[in-house]
Amino acid sequence: MTTPTIELKPSSQPRSDAEREALLTSPGFGRHFTDHMVTIKWTEGRGWHDGQLVPYGPLSLDPANMTLHYAQEIFEGLKAYRQPDGSVATFRPDKNARRFQASARRLGMPELPVETFIEACDVLVQQDRAWVPAHGGEESLYLRPFMIATEVGLGVKPANEYLFLVIASPAGAYFPGGVKPVSIWLSEDRVRAVPGGMGDAKTGGNYAASLLAQAEAAAKGCDQVCYLDAVEHQWIEELGGMNLYFVYGGASGEKPVIVTPSLTGSILEGVTRDSLLTVARDLGYESREGRVSIDQWQRDAENGTLTEVFACGTAAVITPVGTVKRTGAEWKQSGGEPGEVTMKLREALLDIQRGVSEDRHGWMHPL
Ligand code: COI
Repeated sequence: MTTPTIELKPSSQPRSDAEREALLTSPGFGRHFTDHMVTIKWTEGRGWHDGQLVPYGPLSLDPANMTLHYAQEIFEGLKAYRQPDGSVATFRPDKNARRFQASARRLGMPELPVETFIEACDVLVQQDRAWVPAHGGEESLYLRPFMIATEVGLGVKPANEYLFLVIASPAGAYFPGGVKPVSIWLSEDRVRAVPGGMGDAKTGGNYAASLLAQAEAAAKGCDQVCYLDAVEHQWIEELGGMNLYFVYGGASGEKPVIVTPSLTGSILEGVTRDSLLTVARDLGYESREGRVSIDQWQRDAENGTLTEVFACGTAAVITPVGTVKRTGAEWKQSGGEPGEVTMKLREALLDIQRGVSEDRHGWMHPL
């Protein structure tokens, strides 16, 4: 695999300090973008080439661009955090880079070398470092690497040309309520992904497929939909755009055990999900992957053995689940309040990312 160098062509008209500061006061999620983006091309027979950092701006696409028709698209999400000394570091970019390669293989796309993925993110963050929010708060700079097919034509086949891009967006809480517990609708008929499908690839199609079920969840008064497996319609998989954890014990002094659904091939392997298996052990908890059924969830919540549930993802960080609804039933998790174990895990992870506690696992990538 070739590793192109990234040529710098910075904007002659970046946003003013005042405009940027105003946007950073309340960034929301994914609404504002920094001054630059990175683009790298791939062409059959030539490989990766023409890496550039250029002003952020629209792409010009032929109406017969293959991505617009057959959705050969993959993406990633990772964050850059302001450290206590004012420097900037990203969290586990190598893990995102490898998942991006796995998604590319599944979608018949070329694999970007891990070092090029990391370099592209680094170059963009270096250039737009003033856009990384101040240290200490909830905010960070969300990086969105993605790849689209650029070949023009309507034949269904893997394209012979692609464009990889990285854009960046200052980000506050994904859910407007911040760490306020969210409500979950357990969808017993719609499924997100099937065995042998592409549920473990980070591709737009999985998110498009989630929108109807997400709208149904909203109609039931819920923030997020939770999917079951596609075969038995029984096993918990994940939410529309994030993974789930179940917390057992911990209420009366016993060691908490946190459990996340095992990777079945139809679940996305979240970087936050993976990190929490380790962070939990660092905190003295037990952590494991396993199967949790919808009926077990309801039963254990009702008999009090399941003490907390939380959602996790790069965008959502760790968000407590407060209310759960399924056809014919509704219950509260930890009385509808953020659980103690959930909040301890949240702080422990954020402390590593914000550079406040020791990076014992070598996860931070300083720039
Ligand atoms: C992320 O957490 O980075 C995601 O991909 C979730 C989402 C905003 C699609």
